[in-house]
Amino acid sequence: MITRRFLLAGAGLAGAAAIAAPAVLRSPKHAMATEPQPLRVPPLIDARQQDQSIALNVEAGQTEFFPGRASETLGYNGSYLGPTLRLHRGDDVAMAVTNTLNEDTTLHWHGLVVPGEIDGSPHQTIGPRKIWSPVLPIRQPAATLWYHSHALHRTADQVYAGLAGFLLIADEEEQALGLPSDYGVDDLPIVVQDRQFENGQLVMPDGMMALMQGRRGDTLLANGTVNPFARVGAGLIRLRLLNGANARIFHFSFDDDRFFHWIASDGGLLEQPVPLRSLSLAPGQRGEILVDFSDRRAVTLQTAPDTNAPMMMGMMQRFGNATANLLGTEKQPVIHFQVEGGGRNAAVPDRLASMEHLSRQDAVRERRMSLTMGMGGMMGGGGSGGMMGGGGPRGMMGGGGPRSMMGAFGINNRPFDIERINEQVRLGDVEIWEVAGEMMAHPFHMHGVQFEVLSRNGRAPEAADQGLRDTILVREPIELIVRFTQPGTQAPFMYHCHILEHEDNGMMGQFRVQ
Ligand code: C2O
Ligand code: CU
Ligand code: CU
Repeated sequence: MITRRFLLAGAGLAGAAAIAAPAVLRSPKHAMATEPQPLRVPPLIDARQQDQSIALNVEAGQTEFFPGRASETLGYNGSYLGPTLRLHRGDDVAMAVTNTLNEDTTLHWHGLVVPGEIDGSPHQTIGPRKIWSPVLPIRQPAATLWYHSHALHRTADQVYAGLAGFLLIADEEEQALGLPSDYGVDDLPIVVQDRQFENGQLVMPDGMMALMQGRRGDTLLANGTVNPFARVGAGLIRLRLLNGANARIFHFSFDDDRFFHWIASDGGLLEQPVPLRSLSLAPGQRGEILVDFSDRRAVTLQTAPDTNAPMMMGMMQRFGNATANLLGTEKQPVIHFQVEGGGRNAAVPDRLASMEHLSRQDAVRERRMSLTMGMGGMMGGGGSGGMMGGGGPRGMMGGGGPRSMMGAFGINNRPFDIERINEQVRLGDVEIWEVAGEMMAHPFHMHGVQFEVLSRNGRAPEAADQGLRDTILVREPIELIVRFTQPGTQAPFMYHCHILEHEDNGMMGQFRVQ
């Protein structure tokens, strides 16, 4: 079945490339409306119920985001997104990833602390009709991780088309806390993504705007569902939120401004629950929250507009460039909750996890990273080939096209080169990385580690910086403290901006650990 469907969908298409570029982007008020649809919940695969072996097929297919309107999409074991994998700490899990596309892909375990050669980076390419079979040693605490394509220069397109899924790690400490953990009932994984549609069909925005600020869309999806609602019990519900957008930052809150408890960051449980009214997640980040629905009121999870854009884009918006106005100004609903029936009235635990903190004295080395957009020359006016200099807005408006920007994105002004190892790290060392972002905020992500924020802009970290993380939004300099526990000898680890268009176009580097 899968093969036949792939052949049909694949005739004349090259996977995600089949998605057409839109002629004109719509402003948010023109987004297509649909009746509320029940939230899709990805099927759960628990490794312990399958003898520690899991098969994933990378497939092309069709998805009806809007009823009756099929879009060409990609997915794992399905047409869009993939199953939720539940792996247990201490286990070794045999994965078999089969690529049925007619283009290369890779499958990266984002947040998983495993050796470089099984990380699923651009070094572990899975060619068409090939199978990749890593065995994953699960040795880290309970956490909400995810997996997604990391194909060289194709990550943004393949993830936009659907290649992403949840990877949950369970352990005994977390189970002993009695947190809501009935999958799909009181423990809901929710990947939030923005996408662009035309006449109800998924389109892939392209051009300078999509490159500079990353692809964005006016329509929000939760687990691939447009305008979703979920029925929950009148009790405590755990939401595992994942920002699976290519570029957009979400600022989550509820429309009645209720409190919730933030309990986990990227790398797992916090030391104690943090009461909040809003939680921001940059692309790649996860946050688990506990929400009390015992008042039985219907409520909507919403997101505030993302104002993160390169300085120049902000200028264009003020000058009224029609295609620039994708950021919006109003809060947008993400998912509606209806409360039905009784719920478990679990209490929010006082303490969650114990953590050992690294301190400045543990670090043997400091490195500096700046996520650069090559804007020095562009804004300077004197340089040749600058975007605003000499040729005026030619580059931006089409002339050279987005590909002429390749090479402008980099880290410390060097674009990614898969043949170059940027940094050498000693296995077991603790280091401080000071990371800053140019022109706009960039979500900085490291493979193979979970780090802590040591300082922000020369001051103590903020409450929102606590917990283990693999991705952090940087503009002003942030110091991260990190211990490298995994060998990256046979294959290096990546570090990059998680605005996927920036990553694909050079804002990435690699480090060896040995
Ligand atoms: Cu989620 Cu290198 O990526
Ligand atoms: Cu990653
Ligand atoms: Cu970036």
